[in-house]
Amino acid sequence: MAKSLNEYPSIGLRPEALARRIDFVQLFGRSAPVQLEIGSGKGTFLVNEAQACPEMDFFGIEWASKYYRYAVDRLGRRKLTNVRLIRTEAAAFLRDFVAEQTINGIHIYYPDPWPKKRHHKRRFICQANIDQILRVLKTGGHLKMATDHADYFQQIQTVLRGCASRFRRIEFRPTAGAQGGEWVGTNFERKYLKEEREVFTIALEKVALQ
Ligand SMILES: C[S@@+](CC[C@H](N)C(=O)[O-])C[C@H]1O[C@@H](n2cnc3c(N)ncnc32)[C@H](O)[C@@H]1O
Repeated sequence: MAKSLNEYPSIGLRPEALARRIDFVQLFGRSAPVQLEIGSGKGTFLVNEAQACPEMDFFGIEWASKYYRYAVDRLGRRKLTNVRLIRTEAAAFLRDFVAEQTINGIHIYYPDPWPKKRHHKRRFICQANIDQILRVLKTGGHLKMATDHADYFQQIQTVLRGCASRFRRIEFRPTAGAQGGEWVGTNFERKYLKEEREVFTIALEKVALQ
């Protein structure tokens, strides 16, 4: 990552510049379905999906500064107008900045697995964060996840069983950037598939409260 990176302020956002409860219509200058990605890494999902779906808006959240800067540069070079990226921690961001029932899709691809038992509490998928995801997703909105980590996938399924009445399982359709045999075509997925690791995916639709 030695190349010089441009900042593109129209794409890279700062939390302190945003209103608490983001108005996505104002942010993107139009009313369109909003897709949110948590842990965007180098931005591959955002690059491919924002180009393939110009009728939708994409909002990525990435904690690591080096990935955030790399992804902003990549998105900016393509002059994409339907994508924004913020460098911040996703759980606090969902809680403080995202209003309820404003998001059409949430994408979490290869979240950090924190394999040591004493670190499991750092995993993003936990009851509190699923509650936030349920709060911000519109009814009928989708949650899509992929991981290469069997134990984390089990934890994800356990958490989801606790709110089974709020989700309906749907088919996981590969994303725009996925090529032969891939599910999402992100950098981490490509690395794991090359290592012939098993990959686990799940896609859910939020259903109305009975
Ligand atoms: C294993 S990488 C996967 C990146 C990308 N999704 C992919 O598939 O190539 C996980 C990413 O999530 C980011 N991340 C982890 N926890 C986060 C959090 N709580 N908020 C925002 N980003 C987070 C990390 O910095 C890292 O870039």
